[in-house]
Amino acid sequence: MKPRRWISAGVVAVATAAALNALPATASRPYDPTTQTLAALGQRHGLKIGTAVNATALNDAGDPQYRRLAASEFSSVTAENAMKWESLEPTRGTYDWTAADQLVEFAARNRQAVRGHVLVWHSQLPAWLTSGVADGSISKQELRELLRKHITTVVKRYQGRIWQWDVVNEAVSDPWDTPSTLHYKGFWAQNLGPDYIADAFRWARAADPRALLFYNDYNIEAFGSGNPADDKTQFVYDMAKGLRAQGVPIDGVGSQGHLGTQYGNFDTLQVTAALKRFAGLGLATAFTEVDVRSEMTEAVRAGNSAEINPRLQASAANFSVLMKACLAVRTCLSYTVWGFSDKYSWVPDWFNDPPEGLATIYDENYQPKRAYQELKSDLIFAGPPYVLPRVAPRPHR
Ligand code: XIL
Repeated sequence: MKPRRWISAGVVAVATAAALNALPATASRPYDPTTQTLAALGQRHGLKIGTAVNATALNDAGDPQYRRLAASEFSSVTAENAMKWESLEPTRGTYDWTAADQLVEFAARNRQAVRGHVLVWHSQLPAWLTSGVADGSISKQELRELLRKHITTVVKRYQGRIWQWDVVNEAVSDPWDTPSTLHYKGFWAQNLGPDYIADAFRWARAADPRALLFYNDYNIEAFGSGNPADDKTQFVYDMAKGLRAQGVPIDGVGSQGHLGTQYGNFDTLQVTAALKRFAGLGLATAFTEVDVRSEMTEAVRAGNSAEINPRLQASAANFSVLMKACLAVRTCLSYTVWGFSDKYSWVPDWFNDPPEGLATIYDENYQPKRAYQELKSDLIFAGPPYVLPRVAPRPHR
């Protein structure tokens, strides 16, 4: 951008932010941003703050607090499991929309956006599909047709009600896989070859002209060596660039943001730089599944504060790094946490050797943790000239 245009954009942004900040304040009760929800504070930047929603918890009459917080603190929701293929079509040919519909209706009632998750993934596939391919009763050609039909059916059902779709999830291997050179991994790549990725985006676009179509993956928060053989962020960047060059209708890259306090992780400027490079491809970005887990040593489990405190602080710092980086890049459209309370986090179930936990922003009794307060203050303290309102991209054809 030329300096003059930058300046005028900056002036508009300052004016917009000033107007947004002029929220109801009276002499007796001045505006106090610390009492606002994450959703309201995100709105000042045009940034949606989302959460994954657990269908069982949402329906638990004995736990009204879950519904209340899901409805009030967040401006976007993602189905934690309800839109996965195994949930939608447990029996071949028979779709069960109950839980997915319920979430979409919940979002509409609460004026929330919906991130659709997920159309193509190697995990949580129905058993009839994977066993049919394994025993040869479903041919490769039929498999491709089943995938096209699945994408078309699901996207059409929710057409106009889904803001962003995770079209393809976790297609790329990790350095600890075999072979260690990064490659397209899993059920779909093995059976259809990597072209399924471009196909999936084209089929999704044909079914909904307006949804923003995302590729979604983990461990892509920052660039590493720059060599796509061992740098997953670089591999995904090259993939997205290739898809754009071929005219594939991909609109964004979602960075899941599953972090752990035991790892080195990143600083705000590294993550910002990565988001900017994706922006340079004409792509939106989003943090789609943020949580920051910690090892639950015996001392932590016994309540030893000398072990608990550093974990809570490191967790808050990591949540904050991703938030600040997102705020700094105008095409970073949303920041979604993967569950908001430790009461329902997937972490203790999935990372149990050694046991991990403490990954979300509220504790098991819905008390906000330090991470929640840091996210709030990031949203409160951010503003022009560096942090500007979001720019919405137009869906690619
Ligand atoms: C997880 C859910 O949270 C669990 O309840 C489920 O048992 C397994 O899947 N990356 C993704 C999410 O894209 O769909 C995963 O969700 C977490 C990792």
